Amino acid sequence: TQHAERQRILNTLRLSRAQLLDVKERVRKEMVRGLSKQTHEQASVKMLPTYVRSTPDGTEHGDFLALDLGGSSFRVLLVQVRSGKRHKVDMHQKIYSIPQEIMQGTGEELFNHIVHCISDFLEYMGMKGASLPLGFTFSFPCHQNRLDQGILLKWTKGFKATGCEGEDVVMLLKDAVRRKQDFDLNFVAMVNDTVGTMISCGYEDPKCEVGLIVGTGTNVCYMEDMKNIELVEGDDGHMCVNMEWGAFGDSGELDDFCTQFDHMVDASSNYPGKQRYEKMISGMYLGEIVRNVLIDFTAKGLLFRGKLSERLKTRGIFETKFLSQIERDHLAMRQVRSILQHLGLTSSTCDDSVLVKEVCTVVARRAAQLCGAGLAAVVEKIRENRNLNHLSVTVGVDGAVIVVQETLQDLAPQCQVTFHKSEDGSGKGAALITAVTESSRWPKK
Ligand code: BG6
Ligand code: GLC
Repeated sequence: TQHAERQRILNTLRLSRAQLLDVKERVRKEMVRGLSKQTHEQASVKMLPTYVRSTPDGTEHGDFLALDLGGSSFRVLLVQVRSGKRHKVDMHQKIYSIPQEIMQGTGEELFNHIVHCISDFLEYMGMKGASLPLGFTFSFPCHQNRLDQGILLKWTKGFKATGCEGEDVVMLLKDAVRRKQDFDLNFVAMVNDTVGTMISCGYEDPKCEVGLIVGTGTNVCYMEDMKNIELVEGDDGHMCVNMEWGAFGDSGELDDFCTQFDHMVDASSNYPGKQRYEKMISGMYLGEIVRNVLIDFTAKGLLFRGKLSERLKTRGIFETKFLSQIERDHLAMRQVRSILQHLGLTSSTCDDSVLVKEVCTVVARRAAQLCGAGLAAVVEKIRENRNLNHLSVTVGVDGAVIVVQETLQDLAPQCQVTFHKSEDGSGKGAALITAVTESSRWPKK
């Protein structure tokens, strides 16, 4: 029957508990490979040292500029931190757009544009001439030897500006500032968005030792023991590691779980074969998975009366927000239909709406479960590092994470994990790290 055929297809997108445990184990194995000197090169999960060792203790203060580049919006921020009083952080920000041509043009154009936005922001705030310390959230994989340097390993998500991979992004920005000859920047720290999020949440909850992003892309950072980070000298204390877990699966670790739809999304993406885990989890890709399932259903005559509309054939029609709108449980069918209509999928019947909603639910649930399985590997590793029977830890998050939490509880029962939602993005964290770095230059009283 048609019903059985639909379910057969949807079942390929459903994961069992045993499969999720398998994902957790494989992530764990890749983490160890990424940390080790011998296997780091081949590991799909790069486990990048961040040189963030200490978190704010509340004594930092001052005014900082922050840049936040790599999510769906580019932001310039002024972050004012008052000493002594925790939680006393004032922020002013302006959001700028980065046109597609610039994301995919030359590096020089990209950084000129960024500098132009900073200049506009300084003018807008009446701060031209002030040379504030700057924290830069840059949400891409970077090799760092210091906090104020970051060599871009490769672009991910929607970016592919030329001439940047293999270069120190801090230098690219400095060069652009020099070209403009309009203001000075005082560079202090560059962090990944996961790190910024962890630091920002950690300012309020000292137990926060993990940062999770589920947005346009997905990634995690966490505090690892120095003795396990073989790429960095020294065995004492901890350092935050940017996992770049989006690349998990790039050596085939997810092949058993991938469906034909995942292969299609991967094949028509900017970077085929890369960021396989990210392509099953994050916002930039979930809508495309759904669209490919709907096309298949329609081609088989199981949906939209078998009529494939031009709209459905168009890449990117499902923005992430449509998916989460449709997927929300309390959403009435009438609303699902209006969303479909908005998408130009007008020939839909009531049955069609039910099915579309089910597809969205299955795809979103799988994403959350996969993410939860990865996170289970991370918290279990932290627990084992510390030889604990029971770990209590907080994860700072940016993104939507309900099913993530359920899966995590199930797959890491010895860890009690609190989720702390980041309210104001990772720019605040970048500024706080800048503050820590600045204040550690002077002896503390
Ligand atoms: C923001 C962070 O709050 O969330 C960004 O400051 C991050 O750095 C982003 O990339 C993730 O969300 P999205 O959906 O914009 O990618
Ligand atoms: C991509 C980037 C990573 C970032 C994540 C979330 O996976 O490579 O650096 O943290 O997206 O924005």
